[in-house]
Amino acid sequence: MPTSATATATAATTDTADFLKRYGSWALISGASEGTGAEFALQVAAKGLNVILVARRVDKLEELAAQIRATYGVEVVTFPLDLTVADAAAQLQIAVAGRDLGLVVFNAGGDSVGGAFLKSSYAAWRQLTQRNIDLLTEACHDFSSSFVKRGRGGLIIVGSEAALGGCGRLAIYTATKAYALNFGESLWKELKPHGVDVLNLLIGATDTPKLRTVFAKFGLAPDVVALTSSQEVARVGLASLGRGPTLVLNAQDQLDNPLVSATLRRERVEVQSSFLDNFYGPV
Ligand SMILES: NC(=O)c1ccc[n+]([C@@H]2O[C@H](COP(=O)([O-])OP(=O)(O)OC[C@H]3O[C@@H](n4cnc5c(N)ncnc54)[C@H](OP(=O)(O)O)[C@@H]3O)[C@@H](O)[C@H]2O)c1
Repeated sequence: MPTSATATATAATTDTADFLKRYGSWALISGASEGTGAEFALQVAAKGLNVILVARRVDKLEELAAQIRATYGVEVVTFPLDLTVADAAAQLQIAVAGRDLGLVVFNAGGDSVGGAFLKSSYAAWRQLTQRNIDLLTEACHDFSSSFVKRGRGGLIIVGSEAALGGCGRLAIYTATKAYALNFGESLWKELKPHGVDVLNLLIGATDTPKLRTVFAKFGLAPDVVALTSSQEVARVGLASLGRGPTLVLNAQDQLDNPLVSATLRRERVEVQSSFLDNFYGPV
């Protein structure tokens, strides 16, 4: 009879094999140079997927690529790219060309401007909407089309609790994250029959270099609020893909709260989609 340790190890191996079969053989991670994005890359590589690392800082990407190759023996491609440029989605298609892509993690998405709406120019905010709305939409159209054709795939959209409502000094950020949430929930419903999984992973304050930069800018100690680790974000995100459309990482026990409950949000998408059948026919 297997010991419980053997049974656990066997279950982990099976999970990893299933993940590779379902979402392999390549994954693309945007914003992979540090923090949650780098963690997604490491954990996906640990499951045996080859990875394409996208961000602006080539030195950080190369450093991570070397670590992943040495540790997990998978193939790694670094693709330096500013996701705010107009042809970023087309560039991402060049990055994946000829590769059997099965998973995309849209991780880059932090508030690159920050502060009150009128304190920054429209041009600055436009960069944020370009990356968090325009690029996300176009890239999802491209990637989803190929996933549907091959009959499997996964999209993880790293979101924020900020998606759940507006608040002062986060006008554009909360709005872009709300867009991603509605978009991702709708895609979840439309793509599921084609074997494609979509997960909105809404996280709260997370210990990333970006957040630490913000704390330092305002002279705050990093322990001013409780922080989730980047490792935990990636672990929960990868484990929850397939159980979309939405997981609010810090509210998994709030089963009765329709704003954050994974089950109640899923039911709402199903009910609303069924209602729309009256107008558009079935999904
Ligand atoms: N940290 C938090 O407390 C927190 C809370 C809620 C939600 N989130 C979400 O979690 C995700 C990660 O957040 P984060 O704190 O790590 O901040 P982030 O600003 O999204 O940075 C993460 C990564 O994105 C890359 N990146 C940023 N802008 C880019 C651009 N224009 N083109 C290409 N790559 C770009 C950065 O690398 P390069 O600089 O090398 O390009 C970095 O590797 C985001 O979607 C954010 O909204 C974070």
